[in-house]
Amino acid sequence: TWTPSNIIEEQVARIREQVGDKQVLCALSGGVDSAVAAALVQKAIGDQLTCVFVDHGLLRAGEASQVEKDYVGVTNVRLVTKNVEEQFLGHLSGVTDPEQKRKIIGREFIRTFEEAARELDAERHIEFLVQGTLYPDVVESGGGTGTANIKSHHNVGGLPDDLQFSLIEPLRTLFKDEVRAIGKELGLPDEIVQRHPFPGPGLAIRIIGAIDRERLDILRAADLIAREELAASGLDREVWQFPVVLLADVRSVGVQGDGRTYGHPIVLRPVSSEDAMTADWSRLPYDLIAKISNRITNEVREINRVVLDVTSKPPGTIEWE
Ligand code: XMP
Repeated sequence: TWTPSNIIEEQVARIREQVGDKQVLCALSGGVDSAVAAALVQKAIGDQLTCVFVDHGLLRAGEASQVEKDYVGVTNVRLVTKNVEEQFLGHLSGVTDPEQKRKIIGREFIRTFEEAARELDAERHIEFLVQGTLYPDVVESGGGTGTANIKSHHNVGGLPDDLQFSLIEPLRTLFKDEVRAIGKELGLPDEIVQRHPFPGPGLAIRIIGAIDRERLDILRAADLIAREELAASGLDREVWQFPVVLLADVRSVGVQGDGRTYGHPIVLRPVSSEDAMTADWSRLPYDLIAKISNRITNEVREINRVVLDVTSKPPGTIEWE
């Protein structure tokens, strides 16, 4: 029978066998999957693991410090942070196509890891790379069942052919709720284990249009308000994910304060789901939606309109890109 401790035991044995006395690198993204994958590998091989956190500037407010302080605080894992915001935003400049964004981000991710590995190499030669790939990621990228490639999730599809690492993917057969159960069993705190999933390409695929720092800051401010109010309402666990999406190339007329404005709309996309393969729009209380809307239009100057996405998956995907 499936229990978290069975899976942990099985994976720990498998990882030990695969890795031997070699060194392993793990990409921490700030999300549940990479955190649990890393904790699992750390349990198996301890000090042979080094984690790398790529701060690519596409994260939500507070996420970098959550990885650098909270996760390290609990696990004591060896962490190297790469601050590559400028590099990522440079490569993404002017890019609007969703798959192109993913391709660039996936490529730069891998480059950054390889660079981190090279820098570490003098001290410890890295042979393995941990990826927090889940079963739904494998299926949606056509990697498991021959299902059509819906979106090239960068943590499956974007690896270059000349990749220098062998992959360890300890979550590859698991669904999200199973990953959470394993994380809890491994002693990770609720703030990490119960976090909503967050896509690898981050806020880049929640800005419809080209990405720049100003647009990212607008989205971060609105996203933080939505997260704060959802948490305050106590409904966090009712919602699978709550993307907030900036329609950066759309403008609409509004009236704010002293006069007419010509600002951007923002989309609230709270969804309920079991595993992200299908989803339904969350029936959040109107009072909560109203509070989020009021705060965003009051506190984020560039936003003058808030809209609610009431599309299920299918036909809509969870993310807008
Ligand atoms: P969609 O939008 O396809 O998303 O309904 C399903 C789940 O996958 C996440 N997602 C991604 N995760 N890289 C990721 O690591 C990606 O490129 C990517 N695109 C979507 C999405 O947040 C949802 O949980």
